[in-house]
Amino acid sequence: MKKKLLGTLLSAAMVMSLLAGCGSTATQVQDAAADAAATVEDAAADTADAAADTAAEVVEDVEAAADAVEEAAGDASGNISVGFAQVGHESDWRTASTKSCQDVFSAANGYDLSFVDCDNDEAAQKEAVRSFIEQDVDYIIIDPIIATGWDTVLTECEDAGIPVIVIDRTIDDSDKYVSWVGSDFLTEGKAAGEWLKAYAEKQGVSEINYLIIQGTTGSSAQIGRTDGFREIAKREGWTELDAQTGDFTEAGGQEVMESFCKSYSGKFNVVVCENDNEAFGAMTAMDNAGVTYGPGNDVILISYDACTAGLEKVKAGGITADFECNPLAAPTVEGVIKTLESGGTPEAEILVPDNWYALKDQIVDFSVDGNAQSMIEVTDDVIAAQY
Ligand code: AHR
Repeated sequence: MKKKLLGTLLSAAMVMSLLAGCGSTATQVQDAAADAAATVEDAAADTADAAADTAAEVVEDVEAAADAVEEAAGDASGNISVGFAQVGHESDWRTASTKSCQDVFSAANGYDLSFVDCDNDEAAQKEAVRSFIEQDVDYIIIDPIIATGWDTVLTECEDAGIPVIVIDRTIDDSDKYVSWVGSDFLTEGKAAGEWLKAYAEKQGVSEINYLIIQGTTGSSAQIGRTDGFREIAKREGWTELDAQTGDFTEAGGQEVMESFCKSYSGKFNVVVCENDNEAFGAMTAMDNAGVTYGPGNDVILISYDACTAGLEKVKAGGITADFECNPLAAPTVEGVIKTLESGGTPEAEILVPDNWYALKDQIVDFSVDGNAQSMIEVTDDVIAAQY
């Protein structure tokens, strides 16, 4: 570009000297000089544009080099980057699940974990996944708040070439993920129903009128537990008085139970809470309403999760039986990642085994889908070993 400017200046000088040499008028000389000046200005502008273009190219090159250095540094650290879009912090179970993931996907174990607590907000959870795509993480883990509405964002993950692993709750409207690792919620619900049938027979209770405090509506944990329990209830001819969501929280469980105590006073003998925290809230509401629950009392109280605090309530004679949902799935998810890292194909579905808990006198024999089940007696040692 410098060459072009020089050429233009020389041409202008030549035109001016030519005109002067031919004895042209002063006006002609002035016009020629003005044209030459304009040409020089244009050339200067071109030069400035070119310089700006060159500067932009240099900036781009510098940025690309910086990215390459950063990437090389990441590669050199050998760490695997993982984004985890967690449901929220609604329960003891969730706290245990988060801790398990943070322990497993730690820097000490060779991971860079981007953790997002989505506070039970479906839109925020999709945004978290999109932020992981922008970060270009190596793997994305999702515990889906609800089971539907996933295909678009999972397609975006697929287009970005980032493998997705689903943990705990399931996704029902897309198959664009590598593996799911979690508990069988339908079996949990059926186990609670089959246990109740056997326990009621042992206690001589012939009529069951039950209430359900459900988990987050549309979550696979809520759907599976509700469907599983209802399947047995329908078969046995039990009466469902009501089912309302407590959103898997203690406050939600208390609020729903307060309303149930008013609406169904003296009419119910079984309360099914779809997690321990709801059961804690329901216990407070029943205490306040003068309703007794637990072994030997008015109401059989069934719960799910079997976290430490839940088992303590079993031991204290509050919760009659507690059906586990194991929150420690992260080590299995790490196994999936290791399989992918070594070029293998992980299993599409990996079940985390659950146990069923009660005090000795509430342990009864029962089967689920023809498979005999065993129960664990809650003792101080069992509680101490729980998460
Ligand atoms: O998805 C698992 C469920 O979610 C647990 O039962 C409950 O405690 C949590 O909120």
